[in-house]
Amino acid sequence: MTPYIIAASILSADFTRLGEQIAEAESAGADWIHVDVMDGQFVPNLTMGPFIVEACRRATKIPIDVHLMIEHPENLLEAFAKAGASHLIVHVETCQEIASTLKLIKSLGCQAGVTLNPSTPAAALEPALPLADLILVLTVHPGYSGQEFMGEVIPKITEIRHRLDTLGSSARLEVDGGISPQTISRVRDAGADAFVAASAIFKHPDGIAAGIRALKNALTTKPLIP
Ligand code: DX5
Ligand code: ZN
Repeated sequence: MTPYIIAASILSADFTRLGEQIAEAESAGADWIHVDVMDGQFVPNLTMGPFIVEACRRATKIPIDVHLMIEHPENLLEAFAKAGASHLIVHVETCQEIASTLKLIKSLGCQAGVTLNPSTPAAALEPALPLADLILVLTVHPGYSGQEFMGEVIPKITEIRHRLDTLGSSARLEVDGGISPQTISRVRDAGADAFVAASAIFKHPDGIAAGIRALKNALTTKPLIP
């Protein structure tokens, strides 16, 4: 398994050149493309749907990591799976029966992910942990890219890492929000192994490849906990 994953979030991409920007991210070493789906209900912003995921699927062969910030995600899982999503990540706050939602995602042939808001405690994930292929921890309030990293969420990352290790789970522990060359090693040291970045990649002053390189370089520093 690749030790660390960089997931490039297209929320900060130039949508007039989406295909080119995805190709540039892929050739610069992005491991996954992250798509932030927002419904204007669960979060105040409104963004992309299956149609964009289908366009991303045609632009790249790397996995598409779909983060569903929507109410009633179960109604749209099949459409996103058909559009070519590789991972479907639902918010625990939006699912009454998280275990059955994760099973539904797997039955559609996708990897099943669960995520939680900064204010939601790790305990809310308990019914999901034995089934999830991926846990996504938000280090900003979901809705927009370019927000400041919330360092107070780091103990929750450590806590989830311990729970996954105790369960013998090989689920990826992914972090999303305010990830930059300054913050990435802090979440890696807490036990994360996948990192989402939008502005640090697509708004890097020297371009997409430089943004990805800076994140990867920051990961070459020695972990505090080996
Ligand atoms: C926030 C989204 C993030 C966002 C990250 O609601 O889930 O994926 O795109 O943006 P940055 O990396 O700029 O914080
Ligand atoms: Zn996201």
